[in-house]
Order: sequence, then structure tokens, then C-alpha cells
Amino acid sequence: MKMDFSLELKNTAELVDQIVKAQLPEITGQQKTVLEAMQYSVNAGGKRLRPMLMLKSFSLICSDAERKEIMEPILHAAMGAMEMIHTFSLCHDDLPCMDGDKYRRGQESTWYHFGEDMGTLAGDALSLYAFEAVSRAFLNLQNKAPEAAMRYAPDIIRAMYVLAEKSGVSGMLGGQVVDVEMTGKPLTEEQLGFIYRLKTGALLEGSMLVGAILAGANAEELKKLEEIAARVGIAFQIQDDILDETSTQEVLGKPIHSDAENNKTTYVSLHGLKDAEQEVERLSQEAEEGFGWFCNERYNADACAFLMELTKSLIHRKK
Ligand code: IPE
Ligand code: IPE
Ligand code: MG
Ligand code: MG
Ligand code: MG
Repeated sequence: MKMDFSLELKNTAELVDQIVKAQLPEITGQQKTVLEAMQYSVNAGGKRLRPMLMLKSFSLICSDAERKEIMEPILHAAMGAMEMIHTFSLCHDDLPCMDGDKYRRGQESTWYHFGEDMGTLAGDALSLYAFEAVSRAFLNLQNKAPEAAMRYAPDIIRAMYVLAEKSGVSGMLGGQVVDVEMTGKPLTEEQLGFIYRLKTGALLEGSMLVGAILAGANAEELKKLEEIAARVGIAFQIQDDILDETSTQEVLGKPIHSDAENNKTTYVSLHGLKDAEQEVERLSQEAEEGFGWFCNERYNADACAFLMELTKSLIHRKK
């Protein structure tokens, strides 16, 4: 029977949301303000696209029941970690020293609600807690099943490496550096591509790679997934730029015209809305075709169909 994509998407988003929230630290101790700010920014929601991609990439590749069971707590911690890192990037991106936005995910942005000091610290705290959560999941596994922990340790360490690499100077953060440095300046196509690939593409690549690494993917599978995710990521950022011009704050949950007010060169400002829409469609189609490589008996058919539909749905996303 054909999958009901909207129902599957709704159920998956709810499941992912629960998994992510369960990874957050509880609010206790004298530093509780920052813990509140962490919960405030993560619990506000968001589409949870990155942990969703991680979960589905895991399901796509993993057919070994034992690995599935053993890796589950690690995967859940990594899903929470990715959403924490993404939320950290948003907390900092909204700061007055960066985009200066006062609204995010349908509520006051973290710095605007808690002050710049706590907005900064909440982002820092999320970025570090992400790795605390994954390493704790590994230590728990080591206590419970030391032999399995040793067997799977190389994959878990590799996943943590990719999580860090795609988030830091070689990934999201590196892209943000060039984004803010080049604000108000004209950009070449190559510079714009660099910024989009890193500031947005890298976390989407990281999400799919981490899921696949925990699932035991081989080098060829990882390369394919990374290429697909890179396209989804650039399309996602161009669509974000389009929505910044065409949507409303009510629908988006964040201010519109932020790019124009900040003098950002974007794909839309360089090429116009129509070309931007076509580029989103072109890249998304390429990504969807890329998933076609996984549509065979070696891989999970439901996960493959879901990932293809999800990619397609992002072309016309409204938020
Ligand atoms: C916003 O990401 C930042 C970009 C990379 C464009 P999302 O659009 O995924 O934001 P949330 O998580 O749904 O709030
Ligand atoms: C930011 O791009 C990407 C991040 C790494 C946060 P934007 O600055 O366009 O993201 P929004 O529009 O504020 O979500
Ligand atoms: Mg920005
Ligand atoms: Mg911004
Ligand atoms: Mg934007």
C-alpha cells in the first residue's frame, strides 16, 4: 500500500519532538536561568527537520535488528544533539551582533526574552550539552553492555566527529563567519555558494551522515547521502531567503525582511524570486533523484519513499 505521506510526516514529527525534548537537561541548580533559556529555545518547536533526517537515514540503512536495538539510545541522543546545535546556531544568529532578530519560532528570540548575556550563554550551553548527551549515551551503553559498546565504539566516535565537524569551523559556524563578514558587501556566486553550503548545508549533511554512520553505512552510501543532503541544504537556504521576502511573521514565526534590513546579499537579491524558485526546484529534484539510488531491496523502502516525499515537500514549504 502507498504511504500516506502527510500522516507519516505528522507522526514522525511528533515522535522526533518527544525524542529531542527528552534529551534536554532538567532545570535545577543556581544556573537555572540558562537551563530555562535552553528549554525555552528548543521547546518552542521548529520543524525538527534535522533530527527527522537523521532518524530516517538511520532507518534507510540499518537492517540489522541487533544494531538497531543497541544503537537506539545513541541515535536518540544524537538527534537531540543535532537539534541543540541547530538551536544554538539560531540563538546566536538572532543576537544583535549578528542578525538582530527579536522573534523566533513564534516567540521572542532567546536573547530578546532573556537578555543578550543569557542568549549567548544558552547557545554556548546547547552546543556543549549536545556532546555531553551523546557521550553520556555511550557511557550508559558501556555500563549495560560493555562488549557491544566496544564493538560499536568506532562508529559512535565517528558520528560524534562528523557532528562536530559539520557544526564547527569547517561547517555551520564557518559559513556564519563568512555570512557576517560579507554583510553589506557584494558577493560572487562562489562566495554565496560557500556560505550556503556551510551555514545551512553542513547541518543537513551532518544529520543524514550521523544517522547513516550509526546504521553502519559504507563509504559509498555515505558519499551518496552527503551529496543529496548538500543539495537539500542549499535549496533549503534559498527557500528560506524566498520566504524572508514573501511570507509573513505569523506564518514563519520569525521576522520577514530580515535579510534586506541587514543588507545581506542572498540568492534572491542576486537572481530575483523567479530564478530562486527554479533553483530550489532544480536542486530538490536532483536530491530526490539521488534517493532513487537507495530504492532497492537492500534498503528500507518506507524510509526511502519518506525521504523522497519530504524532499519534494520542501520545494513549496511555507515555513
Ligand atoms: C532556520 O532553520 C535557519 C536556516 C538554516 C534557514 P529552520 O527553518 O529549520 O528552523 P526551525 O528549526 O524550523 O525553527
Ligand atoms: C542562518 O541563516 C543559518 C544559520 C546557521 C542559523 P539565516 O540568518 O537566513 O536564518 P534565519 O532566517 O534567521 O532563520
Ligand atoms: Mg543569519
Ligand atoms: Mg537570521
Ligand atoms: Mg533567513
